[in-house]
Amino acid sequence: MKIIIINGPNLNLLGKRETNIYGDLSFQEFLNQLKKTYPLLDLEYYQSNIEGELIDKIQEVGFTYDGIILNAAAYTHTSIGIADAVAGITVPVIEVHISNTYSRETFRHVSYLAPNAKGVIAGFGLQSYELALQSFIK
Ligand code: DQA
Repeated sequence: MKIIIINGPNLNLLGKRETNIYGDLSFQEFLNQLKKTYPLLDLEYYQSNIEGELIDKIQEVGFTYDGIILNAAAYTHTSIGIADAVAGITVPVIEVHISNTYSRETFRHVSYLAPNAKGVIAGFGLQSYELALQSFIK
């Protein structure tokens, strides 16, 4: 199975950024662990702080891969462009968030992506990504 994790803005700072909310593990450390746990999966990773680059990547993989795990970060709450990209592809997308966005500021309660996602997983820390992965392989 070919699965890609796509992370949006500021998620390159995981491990350093607001560690009380997002934890102190870098995404690379987490990804290394994940790859060891699921050695048979073809697991790719892409991160960008730029909205158009995220859209380009979604389009590039969106007709051939088996699944996309997407944490669009702040763009979740603002980007009609990313929402349209998710709506326009055939590969299923699972929206994930590290934090429980519903227990935070009200602007984080809105997701433009969720209506076209296969499902949404939020609030389990980095485990949110693993839960999404498991849902693709089971
Ligand atoms: C986030 C939640 C978003 O509201 C926020 O802008 C992020 C990270 C999360 O994973 O909890 O950058 O997507």
